[in-house]
Amino acid sequence: MNATIRKATLTDKADLGKIYCAAWKEAYNILPSEYLEKLNEEFCTPKTDNLENYLVAEMKNTVAGLVNYGVSRDSASEKTGEIRAIYILPEFWRKGLGTELIRAAQAEMKKHGYISAYLWVLEKYIRAVKFYEKMQMRTTKEKRTIQLNGTQLTEIKYECEL
Ligand SMILES: CC(C)(COP(=O)(O)OP(=O)(O)OC[C@H]1O[C@@H](n2cnc3c(N)ncnc32)[C@H](O)[C@@H]1OP(=O)(O)O)[C@@H](O)C(=O)NCCC(=O)NCCS
Repeated sequence: MNATIRKATLTDKADLGKIYCAAWKEAYNILPSEYLEKLNEEFCTPKTDNLENYLVAEMKNTVAGLVNYGVSRDSASEKTGEIRAIYILPEFWRKGLGTELIRAAQAEMKKHGYISAYLWVLEKYIRAVKFYEKMQMRTTKEKRTIQLNGTQLTEIKYECEL
């Protein structure tokens, strides 16, 4: 079934919060449960009105997925892009929306002159690791540690040429 991929607009803001919240709660049982219990749609809604770097996927009249991308936040090069977030409503997983959103974000970054892109993924979150490998992203083996509610989590970096 085909999805429509388009730039997000301000009217999508509440839907973005809904997608972030539902996907986090369903996906991240590797995160501290106290943290997940506190999450709600309002907390997960982007705090900015600048949604320039968001694409959304619509399917069956539902805004069902998002990708957020932009210039790298931890590389000196302005030609390096970063996929900052990709989330799909759980009831729409495995229908190809993630693939379409990644491809569209890669195409947008290429259009804007980026030559490569990377992302960080929780090392233990196998669903996403398998997804990125299917998207032909390569692991750099570079790792970093993040703290969430006092729990230390390891993220691993994946990259691709554009
Ligand atoms: C990861 C995520 C974005 C994938 O999106 P999706 O729309 O379900 O993925 P697609 O349907 O495009 O899947 C493409 C391919 O990725 C692989 N893949 C996706 N989910 C997988 C899973 N759970 N297990 C193994 N492989 C998987 C498969 O090879 C799949 O192709 P196939 O269905 O033909 O076998 C989605 O599951 C999600 O939002 N998860 C929660 C949030 C998240 O993990 N975000 C990334 C954090 S860094």
